[in-house]
Amino acid sequence: MPKALPLWLYRRPDQRQLLQTPAQPVSFEAYSEPALTKLFEQMTVTMYKANGIGLAAPQIGHSLQLAVIAAEVTADHQPLILINPVINNASQETDVVEEGCLSIPEVYGLVARPIRVQVTYFDVRGQPHTVQAEQLHARVIQHEIDHLQGRLFIDRATSITKGKEKL
Ligand code: NI
Repeated sequence: MPKALPLWLYRRPDQRQLLQTPAQPVSFEAYSEPALTKLFEQMTVTMYKANGIGLAAPQIGHSLQLAVIAAEVTADHQPLILINPVINNASQETDVVEEGCLSIPEVYGLVARPIRVQVTYFDVRGQPHTVQAEQLHARVIQHEIDHLQGRLFIDRATSITKGKEKL
């Protein structure tokens, strides 16, 4: 397995800029490229080493629309790999949960999000899929898709509950 990579951090101004930039869509030619699979392996290893439940490519310095969701939070208990994901349906019903982010360590805040979402995405072979997610699974997917749009949970948080001084 590849080695875990350093996480890009909000508190580093040079890294913050990329974290706040919308990521590039993965082009059709890039599907099935070994480099893409290797990048997902690196993202997965990096996520698990950091005890995260999701990771987006900008968090390891790649401005690409790729995210991984940990098996612990998916409905089928398999890691979910998302390429060019789009939320095409979200419930009116929301809930408020405390979130954190591997790129903003030791900071937590309350974020309201839809409880259920339907997301379309592509897999590493370029095949389209749709996933219905709810509760924590839905929340993590939304958090990661936000990363791909250059948005961080602190942009959405109604209050910072811990670590305000570390921002
Ligand atoms: Ni995050």
